[in-house]
Amino acid sequence: MDNPNSTIAPQSPHGAEGSLRGRFSEATDEFVQVFTASVSFDQRLYKEDIAGSKAHATMLQSISVLDSDELNQILQGLQTIQDEIEGGVFQWRVDLEDVHMNIEHRLIELIGDTGKKLHTGRSRNDQVATDIRLHVRAAIDQLISQQSQLLGALADLAETNADTIMPGFTHLQAAQPITFGHHLMAWFEMLRRDRERLLDCRKRVNQLPLGAAALAGTPYLPNRPMVAELLGFEGVCENSLDAVSDRDFAIEFCAAAALSLTHMSRWCEEMVLWSSQQFNFITLPDRFCTGSSIMPQKKNPDVPELIRGKTGRVNGHLISLLTLMKSQPLAYNKDNQEDKEPLFDVIDTLSDCLTALIGLVPNIQANKDVMLAATDQGFTTATDLADYLVRKGMPFRDAHDVVGRAVQLAASQNRPLEDLSIEELNGPNSNVIEEDVYQILTLQGSVGTRDHLGGTAPNQVRQAIQRARAMI
Ligand code: ARG
Repeated sequence: MDNPNSTIAPQSPHGAEGSLRGRFSEATDEFVQVFTASVSFDQRLYKEDIAGSKAHATMLQSISVLDSDELNQILQGLQTIQDEIEGGVFQWRVDLEDVHMNIEHRLIELIGDTGKKLHTGRSRNDQVATDIRLHVRAAIDQLISQQSQLLGALADLAETNADTIMPGFTHLQAAQPITFGHHLMAWFEMLRRDRERLLDCRKRVNQLPLGAAALAGTPYLPNRPMVAELLGFEGVCENSLDAVSDRDFAIEFCAAAALSLTHMSRWCEEMVLWSSQQFNFITLPDRFCTGSSIMPQKKNPDVPELIRGKTGRVNGHLISLLTLMKSQPLAYNKDNQEDKEPLFDVIDTLSDCLTALIGLVPNIQANKDVMLAATDQGFTTATDLADYLVRKGMPFRDAHDVVGRAVQLAASQNRPLEDLSIEELNGPNSNVIEEDVYQILTLQGSVGTRDHLGGTAPNQVRQAIQRARAMI
């Protein structure tokens, strides 16, 4: 089994740690020791584990399980351990299985018998659940601040492009003229909801499991609200069985992350398309693109492609966690150890993808002429013509037919709509189109008419950006 972490010492020649094996008559099988260990990946929780232990010890002193001298020794010992870990001198041991046992073992080495009292009224089951919740909470706070930064960058780019005309698409066919600013603000809306979802999920993450002990609670009558307050939790998990076994919060977090990445992936797909020679709507900064090893002319949009690709693995992690939980009886089962790697990877992947977009977005350059020319093809003002006929008293379905005929004529002669004469525009079934039609066939005229809340008119886009800025 590969162990990516070189700071992990090989297993002890004396077999597994004696302290947990009082009831066994033989040492743990060597393979089983490595197979069941999680320290290679859960050492990432060291800070949360130490914070949780400090709060637990403080509470133990308040209910007279520890005296204040013992508490001080424990707090100082834990601080020394944190310094050792952060200084890169802590020796992680696989034979000590996980982050919790490694830290506890070192505490006993450092301060002796007093260290053995720390685990009173606690189990690794409520300990690990607490650690993960603290870790996810910190991750959410960091991700939310990244999302806010990205939202700001989007609003800025939208403002610069509030008047930039481009074709809006349905079925990836040019549909109607819109502004690039309006299009960007659609992405803003998605990302804003993503941020809201994380914020909402945080409430359910931020509940304290400690006090549940292994599954049934503990006879030491712990002051759980006190521990919750020390660790910044909003409340305590109500039921001890649920407290140690629940991973809903991790699933919810991954679901929110998967949806957020799904949005980012859709957006990146557009960047890939739009930066291609075929569209050429935008130019991506050179420093976010890569070359080809064989084709010297290539400028590949690797960053958006990779974000699109990484979405797959995050969606996969969500399914991993759902599957991990689906057959577990109450309460804690060792299966739960498998929650960490997917969860950590989701945190890192979402964070990296946000970092990439935060760097990329302010440097996206809109090729306005190309966008405008593309809007001019594809009869994107056909709906405006139909609306014009409706204003002249024609029922919409009849107007649709009149315009359809005009488009057919223009397409067959490869001419834009505004090139047709009044007679050609009217065709056999209308006589209401007059000279004033030509001004509504312009692209600026078309977007300008969508001047309502949520519409694409530059004036509305500017107002939407203003409201958006107040939200960031
Ligand atoms: N490493 C374990 C995990 O991640 C810690 C809890 C172990 N508890 C137990 N009863 N074996 O879930």
